[in-house]
Amino acid sequence: RAAALRDVASLIRAVPDFPSPGILFRDITPVLRDPAAMAAALRLHLDAVADLAGSIDRIVGVESRGFLFGMPIAHALGVGFVPARKPGKLPAATVTQAYALEYGEGTLHMHADAIDAGDRVLLVDDLLATGGTAGAAARLVQRLGGEVVAGLFLIELPFLKGRERLAPLRVEALLPF
Ligand code: PRP
Ligand code: MG
Repeated sequence: RAAALRDVASLIRAVPDFPSPGILFRDITPVLRDPAAMAAALRLHLDAVADLAGSIDRIVGVESRGFLFGMPIAHALGVGFVPARKPGKLPAATVTQAYALEYGEGTLHMHADAIDAGDRVLLVDDLLATGGTAGAAARLVQRLGGEVVAGLFLIELPFLKGRERLAPLRVEALLPF
């Protein structure tokens, strides 16, 4: 496991001053283009929530990078996938939630019929920074009557304290930077 984590971590590229000055952007595209690294990353995600297999009804992934791991995780767990999307993308009736993140603010939408009351949801995104994005996605799930049982992230930036912001939600993050 330690070797797999190191291999994946070695492919995450740090880009200074993107998208704005002072932000060190963690770029996962070198992982995505490497099939062995993607397979290792998927395995690591699944291992982190192995205890939840069989008790999750749905994965919620946050546009856009949360789709990249969210969908293969949903497929591997044999559960459905629900996208939380940015404004103007979902065609049917939605619920919406505004949020702030490390370098800006936004609004997330989810189809109002995408979560059934009582659904146990695993929230997936590539990175946990301030927790604003994940918190908004979790709020949408809750407003539709679902229960978020954990948030699962490839990368965590602990200095931005997203984990504290999401408390008492269970947070699983593979690589702290
Ligand atoms: C990034 C990242 C997370 C979020 C984390 O997404 O993919 O979703 O920021 O920040 P937070 O914890 O401070 O909310 P971004 O909004 O840049 O968009 P993208 O996924 O579409 O690239
Ligand atoms: Mg994102």
